[in-house]
Amino acid sequence: MRISVMSKTLLALGGATACLLAEVVSAKAILGVDLGSLYMKVALVQRGAPLEIVTNMHAKRRTEQMVLFDSGTRFYGADANSLYGRKPHLTPTGMSIMLGRSHDHPTVQVLAERHYPIIPEYNVTRSGVCVTINGQVFTPEELVAMVLTHAKDITAAFGVSQGSIKDCVLTVPSFFTQHERRALLDAALLADLNVLSLIDENTAAGLHFGIDRIDEEVQNVVFYNMGASSLQVSIVQYHSYDRKEYSYSKGKKVGSFQVLSKAWDATLGGGAFDARLVDHMATEFNEFLNKKRNTEGKDVRTSPRAMAKLRIQAGKVKQVLSANNDIPVFIDSLFDDTNYQTHISRAIFEEICHDLVLRSAEPITQALKSANLTLDDIHMFELIGGGMRVPRIREEIQKVLGDKLDLGMHINSDESMALGAAFHGANISTAFKVRHVGMADVNPWPIAVSLLDLPIILETGGLFGLGKKTNVEVEEDDEEKWSKQATVFKAFGKIGVKKTIAFTHDRDVACELDYENSELLPVGTDTALERYNITGVADFAKEMEAKGLGKPKVSLQFELSSSGITKLVKAEAVVEEIITVEEEVEVEVEEAVEEAVVEEKKEENKEEETKEEAGEVKDAESSNTTSEEGAPANADKKKAAKKETKTVTKEKKK
Ligand SMILES: Nc1ncnc2c1ncn2[C@@H]1O[C@H](COP(=O)(O)OP(=O)(O)OP(=O)(O)O)[C@@H](O)[C@H]1O
Ligand SMILES: [Mg+2]
Repeated sequence: MRISVMSKTLLALGGATACLLAEVVSAKAILGVDLGSLYMKVALVQRGAPLEIVTNMHAKRRTEQMVLFDSGTRFYGADANSLYGRKPHLTPTGMSIMLGRSHDHPTVQVLAERHYPIIPEYNVTRSGVCVTINGQVFTPEELVAMVLTHAKDITAAFGVSQGSIKDCVLTVPSFFTQHERRALLDAALLADLNVLSLIDENTAAGLHFGIDRIDEEVQNVVFYNMGASSLQVSIVQYHSYDRKEYSYSKGKKVGSFQVLSKAWDATLGGGAFDARLVDHMATEFNEFLNKKRNTEGKDVRTSPRAMAKLRIQAGKVKQVLSANNDIPVFIDSLFDDTNYQTHISRAIFEEICHDLVLRSAEPITQALKSANLTLDDIHMFELIGGGMRVPRIREEIQKVLGDKLDLGMHINSDESMALGAAFHGANISTAFKVRHVGMADVNPWPIAVSLLDLPIILETGGLFGLGKKTNVEVEEDDEEKWSKQATVFKAFGKIGVKKTIAFTHDRDVACELDYENSELLPVGTDTALERYNITGVADFAKEMEAKGLGKPKVSLQFELSSSGITKLVKAEAVVEEIITVEEEVEVEVEEAVEEAVVEEKKEENKEEETKEEAGEVKDAESSNTTSEEGAPANADKKKAAKKETKTVTKEKKK
């Protein structure tokens, strides 16, 4: 019998753009870029040098995510920031929050609500969100590419040769969907960066935290990251295990961690607190102005420049109030030739931000619930990001944690994400040999695959089965119209995995990958992910039918990459043909039997000699008898075996 496998790799035409993730290549330097919506932090790993933060041209360890377009010149970072108060209409900010999002996405709409002068709008020609500056249209990808190019320039000014600045790992918020991740990869491509991987911000911080950890016992750590635009909470489990570099080498204890759950508030960050202060100051100023001028309805909010000044002031006020109880405010000629002068106390700040403070602890409870843990299971609580420096937020968190846990700041709250990203790059690159830290991250949303005939044929279809590698649950639906759905990557399942589904089918297939409905999916997310037409099945099935063979078994392999991007990586159709082949092998068998008989006779003679020597004649006789009876019996068996061996079974795959 022969099983011959006829297989065909199918043509899978995807509707989406090709994945831009690069191959892991050797390089001299790897950047870890934490692209915060307010501040970008860049870390660097080079051969023979420690993991370090890149300081910018102003000797600062973080750079404002800003570009200012003025008279044909682009200004970045602190230079753009210093001109922002006078030229806000030329300065797009926080471009990363527009990536891969629609103009009516809640986080994009926040910009209009907070009176930013540059509002993203849908652009028909570019078929996506764009901003217009001085009549020139830019996509968020182009703007982020400029910021990433600036990251390269900062690194070059730091002393790294331009030619070796290519490979990088970029951080993304936990809630970044596939569209947003792809948009960031596109931006990196425009900036001529080779993205080794994307990494979740908190996971990067968790990796940095875990570099030197060897935990004898399992440790559950909560990372609480409040930045400028969002709040992200992750629960991470650390443990250690014996790792052998080679099968013959001695095991060495290495640290490892696994992300258990994630929760977030995508619109709660330092910027939300600033916005409350801006609103408070604007209202107070309007009252003062209208009273002074004896007018009604004069509104500082109509002036983008005045609002930009208030925004800058709000950031300063908030930071000072983190360490002081009161701050005097003075803005010269804020609006309508009127100065603004006031005092803001911490009590006022806390009062106007009361609801925001209450929201700041909610993701902790959600993350614990998703991980199926209670606070009793948590060993450490780590604060990262700049937003958590507001004392009232820390109080609120401590209230939730009770006496059992302290608020820890064991890693650099601003830099750990960039450092973790750079370390991750060194870990996955072949150019570096760094300490091994095991890492497993999760994808928070379930991803489903839908299959239907291409073109849709209304007749009973094939049988949908499961591949060996997968635990996919299959939901059978309408019998008339062949279509199947399955959850291919479940919520909070690991990333960096492949799954295969297999089914018997004889027609071409349309394959769709979508986010399944989940309460965690950010509002406004387009659930459609990837679209493929799998062709060649029908032709192959016909070819096999003509040969009298059965329907092909179609296997589709899907990947959820370590960057959190899912795609179809392999499509294959296989038909098994069973062929029985008879081969004459008499000669070998006869020779073998003759040899066996000769050997057996030799053995018998030897035995007789031995027994005679021992004087066991009787026994020898009886034994001889037995052996005489036994010999023909054995000979018969050999003959039977000879007949059976005429048919040889072969299993062969081609
Ligand atoms: N001392 C302080 N007191 C209060 N807030 C502070 C203080 N220092 C920094 N912040 C706030 O921290 C925020 C910046 O933090 P961070 O650098 O972590 O944000 P980001 O990474 O740019 O943003 P995100 O991660 O949300 O995209 C700003 O809102 C800033 O006002
Ligand atoms: Mg951040």
